[in-house]
Amino acid sequence: MKKILVFAGSIRTGALSGKLAAHVTRELSLMNAETTLISLGDYEMPIYNGDLEKDEGVPENAKKLKGMMLAHQGIYIASPEYNASMPALLKNTIDWVSRAKEPAGNPYKQCTFALGATSDGRFGGYRGLYHLRQSLELGLGALVIPEQMAIAGAGSAFDDRGALKDETNQKILKAQLEKLIAMAGVLA
Ligand SMILES: Cc1cc2nc3c(=O)[nH]c(=O)nc-3n(C[C@H](O)[C@H](O)[C@H](O)COP(=O)(O)O)c2cc1C
Repeated sequence: MKKILVFAGSIRTGALSGKLAAHVTRELSLMNAETTLISLGDYEMPIYNGDLEKDEGVPENAKKLKGMMLAHQGIYIASPEYNASMPALLKNTIDWVSRAKEPAGNPYKQCTFALGATSDGRFGGYRGLYHLRQSLELGLGALVIPEQMAIAGAGSAFDDRGALKDETNQKILKAQLEKLIAMAGVLA
């Protein structure tokens, strides 16, 4: 069974990206993947600072998250869009994990990534995913599947049980998750 880690780029209570992350986790489980949903709120890290890294080393939470990533073959990131880019929380997390030498291994080279975005606006947050994809692919050499999800009007896109209401969105997401499951583990 493929192991997929899921997290959102926002730790806000009631976050729309958090709703997508939770929905993705449930859908992956129905597709027979073994899933882990985490909150970056449980992996707090200071803003990256080279002096801090030199004096104190990489934060324990970056090592812990790196280990969590390495324990999975696929990673789904559901992100909001901030000023047409990714949130600082997500970039800072990606940067710190990239600096961690322990545990051994490179999750960016070993895991397969899939990206989804939510926005209450009409672009669905897809502009933020360009930057997230660029960082992962060009910056870190990650395999990010081309299929991606951008949910516009996300404030009303989920029903009371947290499922996506729109049938087209459901189809796009299912195809994306099928591809993620198929591609997870190909690099390990
Ligand atoms: C600093 C900042 C910048 C934002 N920029 C955008 C943006 O470029 N595009 C967009 O669709 N929404 C933007 N938003 C609105 C967010 O999409 C909205 O606050 C969203 O609910 C945050 O994500 P979350 O629900 O997952 O916490 C911005 C919000 C903040 C706080």
